[in-house]
Amino acid sequence: MPSARPVPSALRPVVAAAAALVALALVAAGALVSSLATPAGALSPAVVLTSDFESGLDGWQARGAASVSTTATGARGAGSLLVQDRVDPWDGALIPVTEIFEPGTTYTIGLWLRLPDGAGTADLRVSVQRDLDGQPSYETLTTVEGVSSQWRQVTATYTPGLFDTASLYVESVSSPADVMVDDVLVSGVRYTPDLSLTPVSDAVSVPFGIAVEPQDLLGGRGDLLAHHAEQITPGNQMKPDAIQPTEGTFTFAAADGLVDWAIEHDMRVYGHTLLWHQQTPDWFFQRDGAALTTSAADQALLRERLRTHIEAVADHYRETYGEYGTPGNPIFAFDVVNEVIDESQPDGLRRSEWYRVLGPSYIADAFRYARAAFGPEVLLFINDYNTEYPDKRAPYLRLVTDLLAQGVPVDGVGHQLHVEVGRSIPMVEDTIEAFEALDVTQAVTELDVSAYRDSGESWTQPPADRLLEQGYYYRDMLAMLERHASSFESITIWGLEDSRTWLRSGAAPLLFDGALQAKPAYWGIVDPSRIGATPTPTPSVTATPGVTPTVTPTPSVTPTPSVTPTVTATPSVTPTPADPRACRVAYTTNDWNTGFTAGVRVTNTGTSALSGWTLTFSLDGGQRVTQGWSASWTQSGARVTATNAAWNGSLAPGGSVDIGFNGSHTGSNPRPTSFALGGVPCAVG
Ligand code: XIL
Repeated sequence: MPSARPVPSALRPVVAAAAALVALALVAAGALVSSLATPAGALSPAVVLTSDFESGLDGWQARGAASVSTTATGARGAGSLLVQDRVDPWDGALIPVTEIFEPGTTYTIGLWLRLPDGAGTADLRVSVQRDLDGQPSYETLTTVEGVSSQWRQVTATYTPGLFDTASLYVESVSSPADVMVDDVLVSGVRYTPDLSLTPVSDAVSVPFGIAVEPQDLLGGRGDLLAHHAEQITPGNQMKPDAIQPTEGTFTFAAADGLVDWAIEHDMRVYGHTLLWHQQTPDWFFQRDGAALTTSAADQALLRERLRTHIEAVADHYRETYGEYGTPGNPIFAFDVVNEVIDESQPDGLRRSEWYRVLGPSYIADAFRYARAAFGPEVLLFINDYNTEYPDKRAPYLRLVTDLLAQGVPVDGVGHQLHVEVGRSIPMVEDTIEAFEALDVTQAVTELDVSAYRDSGESWTQPPADRLLEQGYYYRDMLAMLERHASSFESITIWGLEDSRTWLRSGAAPLLFDGALQAKPAYWGIVDPSRIGATPTPTPSVTATPGVTPTVTPTPSVTPTPSVTPTVTATPSVTPTPADPRACRVAYTTNDWNTGFTAGVRVTNTGTSALSGWTLTFSLDGGQRVTQGWSASWTQSGARVTATNAAWNGSLAPGGSVDIGFNGSHTGSNPRPTSFALGGVPCAVG
């Protein structure tokens, strides 16, 4: 161990002292907050937990079937924690943090992990269990793939929500291997937002919303949210699995916590979602444990369950907050059906369990049940992703047109807009204009802009120029949306700050960084002239045992009068001029934990026109194409083939075509390294 340790190694006094230090610091911050109008930034982090296992277990205990002991081999010192006798993946080692963690404070957790010699490799996890009102929730802070018998240093950040009791623990994804743990250091810091900034809602003429989780209401996060948004969407708490986990058992507590907060802060609530193919418990589609069939009796049962679910949600919020449309009830809109389009199907409809049992009729039924249950004051929305791509736009438009023609009460069309820097904004505008011809309002329901262009990119923090590019992208997207402001009911961003995005770590798709400071993306919306003057986001605190972490205070921004925006262009690859059949492919992806959306731009860089083309490439990480657009897509093993659609087969020299697909992956998503058009290798980039 380093000789100059900032804290003694015996656990209890350290924890007590460190917790007291944090508590003192937070009290001091409170005093500061009340004496200064707009303090922003972060307090110096305080170490709240340190364990080096050199004089015992330091308070760590076995979790589940495991047993724990100390060994004489440390990561950098003499001892470490050995976890043995694991049977299930969740068996491991834990330390209670009920007295250490505070909801709303951000912690950086550093530790070292390895397996004993000869134990092969395993994917390990650092997790937290929080118990609130008798309900446990399990949160994975980080997954560390391929841990071997070499020590591996791991860092994660975490902001706990409310809890009665909590524990930090080490487990695995699936392997029951023995595990060694050492040099745990946890530091906490409470961030404060700059509340002197112009609220985003003042800069956007359409009502501005943010999708939230309960943690976002606490401390500085809650202040930031209340300052910038005028409505919220529950990120998960109104989905079917949250509201009705088992048939007839309705659990509204988490959702109500968000609605209560919205009322206290004079905000509207956009409900999400009554029907989806994900986050919907299996019982919906089963009778006595067996899958529902398409018999009339099973169809009637599923329709009845749908109606009951929708009525229960509507009745609960009417009974709790008063009639919809009256001042006490903030719910003004609800997503009735989510993601029902699949453009690769002949009828354009997703083959979900809903579709399998009921056929297409469930969509109209859901809207009719919702209108009957909610009444006329709640706007009923259909919602989907990738609606900007022409192949998805067409069936979406067709479905909504058909529903309206049948008198189905669809009031609004939602565009999720989970995009990445560079996705075509004119394409989004084309979709908006197409729906402007119908008798519906529209909403941007889940906007976020990943800083990753594709899955080949990976970083802890995006490079500064990419954050600038993201700022200009937000500027351009919002400017386009403003041109259509009268067509929109609201614009919602899917998350408050980057540390809590649903996208993979490093995507940094939101307006504020994990330290609650405004990014260039914020300035892109509020005052584009300041995009280039925004400092690089506050670095996250690295917990290195033996070194007191420090947080660099965010420098104040001096407004630069005229900053010429420069967006780094994708480096162009010069094709061999003599080749009449040369091509170039740009491949971008937007990833989440198990899936991704890929955009593929194919450019004819040769000298002869193509009439009809076929693109081939390999997905070597086991990824599967689940649906594609603007081409006909097939996959055989790793090999993927895309052949032109009827309308985009002609590709003149210099011309490009944008095609894309959704795919699934199981944890990593390596990008294809080579592409061929008609068998001719293409330049990549
Ligand atoms: C996401 C949530 O943000 C995650 O926390 C959850 O794990 C998965 O779902 N489209 C939707 C949202 O309609 O409900 C999804 O939300 C993001 C994609």
